[in-house]
Amino acid sequence: MSKSLIVSGMRSTGKLHFGHYLGVLTNWINLQKDYDCYYFVADWHALTTKFDKTDELRADVENVVLDWVASGINPEKSTIYLQSLVPEIAQLHVYLSMVTPQNWVERDPTLKDMVKILRGDSETEEKPSNICSYGLIGYPVLMTADILTMNADYVPVGSDQLAHLEISRDIARRFNNIYGVELFKEPKPKLTEVPLFKGVDGQKMGKSFHNDIKISDTEEDTSKRIMSGITDRSRMRKTDIGHPDECEVIFDYYKVFAPEKIETVAQECKSATRGCADCKRELCGIVNEYFKEIREKRLELQSKPNLVREIILDGSDRARQRAKEVLKQVKDAVKMYY
Ligand code: TRP
Ligand code: SF4
Repeated sequence: MSKSLIVSGMRSTGKLHFGHYLGVLTNWINLQKDYDCYYFVADWHALTTKFDKTDELRADVENVVLDWVASGINPEKSTIYLQSLVPEIAQLHVYLSMVTPQNWVERDPTLKDMVKILRGDSETEEKPSNICSYGLIGYPVLMTADILTMNADYVPVGSDQLAHLEISRDIARRFNNIYGVELFKEPKPKLTEVPLFKGVDGQKMGKSFHNDIKISDTEEDTSKRIMSGITDRSRMRKTDIGHPDECEVIFDYYKVFAPEKIETVAQECKSATRGCADCKRELCGIVNEYFKEIREKRLELQSKPNLVREIILDGSDRARQRAKEVLKQVKDAVKMYY
């Protein structure tokens, strides 16, 4: 029996941080064992909000793929590709956009949030420069095209993407109904509910908040960030007893990176035998050790000229083979067969 097919993508945001690694990549890596995985960089989706900031686009794409491969996405097992190198996705997007009622996209709550951020109405996100484009309104339809071009069984996503995926299922069903075919599967979410990984300041980790630690950061930068992390705010000196439960970031990082140490840390913190600076310093070593191999592998991959590019081109070729077959069936269903 052939394996079920998985599609998932990330926008080309550039170098990835620990939140991406722990929240998304570890999951993607595990899925490679049991599924036929298609992972792509969504550079068209990046244009929905950054159409006028494309100078770094190419470097951003390559940095994302470098982080993936260094972290353990295996380009021989999984198909790693670039959205814009699979033009069938754009073609399918046209067909799907014709059968998608306007109000389906207009009531997508995730899209509404994105529009709010773009208009600058959001209090938490960085103020952007763009207004909402026609392309942005089509975001969930383009995402549906990504998924249906591969006719995927499952889509691993975080809960923020569920609303989009709901639309994808509706569009798949509607296409099948309208054209009287059983072409598209209704893609099922594979929810990955990982607790949010915070930045060193206790906020959500993100590039725009300047609180992130990147997979590709040096050990020195990593340590600097960790040393600036917030701890138990009520604790002024080492002789004050600490409250690990109120130590938002550092203790949480211990939970993730050194769960075997948390009992000791908590006990020493509460009895004032562990100072925050020492606690952080120890954590720096732990975290740097955790990412050591990945970082070494990343440097090695990066040092080989053209390697990332070849991975992207080769995977995109493979993705296209499947996409072409699906698109032929789509055109047949729509009776566009010249
Ligand atoms: N919208 C997704 C995100 O922001 C990225 C994405 C684009 C995606 N197309 C997709 C995810 C298709 C899964 C499947 O995270
Ligand atoms: Fe947090 Fe460690 Fe300081 Fe306790 S000793 S408050 S766990 S940084």
